[in-house]
Amino acid sequence: MSAVNEKKVAALAAVKYVKSGMTVGLGTGSTAFYMIEAIGEMVQNGMEIKAVATSNETEKLATRLGINVITLAEAKRLDVTIDGADEVDENFQLIKGGGGALLREKIVAHNSDLNIIIADASKSVSKLGKFKLPIETIPFATQLIINELNDMGLSPVQRMNGNDHYKTDENNDIVDIDIWDCDMKLTELERHLKTIPGIVETGLFLTTTNLVIIGKGDEAIVKNR
Ligand code: 5RP
Repeated sequence: MSAVNEKKVAALAAVKYVKSGMTVGLGTGSTAFYMIEAIGEMVQNGMEIKAVATSNETEKLATRLGINVITLAEAKRLDVTIDGADEVDENFQLIKGGGGALLREKIVAHNSDLNIIIADASKSVSKLGKFKLPIETIPFATQLIINELNDMGLSPVQRMNGNDHYKTDENNDIVDIDIWDCDMKLTELERHLKTIPGIVETGLFLTTTNLVIIGKGDEAIVKNR
């Protein structure tokens, strides 16, 4: 079974948690795409929801499908958020940000009662870190942050978009780091990274996830925290 089908299987299982009247956080990425498409269909069939988008790309897609997109300030609190991940471990810890939307994704997850992560089976890992950890940085500080992360042995690489620096929706930079051999605990690493001025957010989502739905073949495997 292909990863594409597994993404769809997970997305379709997750949208069952969305009910009329809810305020819903919409994630970003190729797995989230199938979830947004399915919610769009539910809305076209009469379901009434309000949604907060985690990226400009998601907002455009949701609006095109007729989903009522509001701001986070208008929503105040979200009933459920469904998002993808680059890696998920057995302790519901994630690496996110492959698609560059980690900052808004983490803000939305923090403000959501239920966070559901959907992924194909390849994203399920026993240890986080084969996927490079994305860090969002303020352009003024990016080069010095790279130097500091280099001194920590984290092999930082600034993300590029062709010949230009990749820019997030907030017009920040992304630096991808290698945490595979890092001997700090993930909580410790997260805390340390957040003490470096100019690091806005990291792609480590350690505490927000309640439910993980992995598409494995034709089956949706649901893991509850
Ligand atoms: C975007 C993300 C995505 O959820 C993550 O990159 C997974 O994307 P995909 O479903 O396309 O594999 O964190 O910032």
